[in-house]
Amino acid sequence: MINVVFVCLGNICRSPMAEAVFRSMVQADGLEKQINVDSAGTSDWHIGDAPHKGTLEILQKYNISAEGMKSRQYVKEDLDAFDYIIAMDQSNIENMEAIQDRQSPKLIKLLDLIPDVSQKDVPDPYFTGDFDETYELVTKGCQELLRRIKIENKL
Ligand code: 4NP
Repeated sequence: MINVVFVCLGNICRSPMAEAVFRSMVQADGLEKQINVDSAGTSDWHIGDAPHKGTLEILQKYNISAEGMKSRQYVKEDLDAFDYIIAMDQSNIENMEAIQDRQSPKLIKLLDLIPDVSQKDVPDPYFTGDFDETYELVTKGCQELLRRIKIENKL
């Protein structure tokens, strides 16, 4: 099993969106037995909460399931438990490094996977209010991530 976790600050806007979008791509490729998908937040602010209304609405708009999703906090054990740890922005990387007390090449920013994008941090719709912009970037990043995982793991 290849384990993938998306990480943001609150685990209610960006990383649950990425989790749901990526899982739907994995299912569309029939790879759900090979790739496990999760998400987490570096803060403890929303533990147990469902995704933000704006995230739920945009997922529903594109017919993507958000069933059963609940916020959890990133823990240091996640560093060993996951093969791909995908941050939404640079501060998520720094917050994970503080939690796990070390740096790791496993920590990747989602938009660093896209070669032709000047934006390197996924904008936080909790503050921008623009869930469409975030959805577009998350989708592009997830497409590139799945392409890369398939190549690296010969799927
Ligand atoms: P997220 O967005 O990191 O994409 O889930 C946020 C959600 C909540 C807060 C900040 C960002 N907050 O301050 O509660």
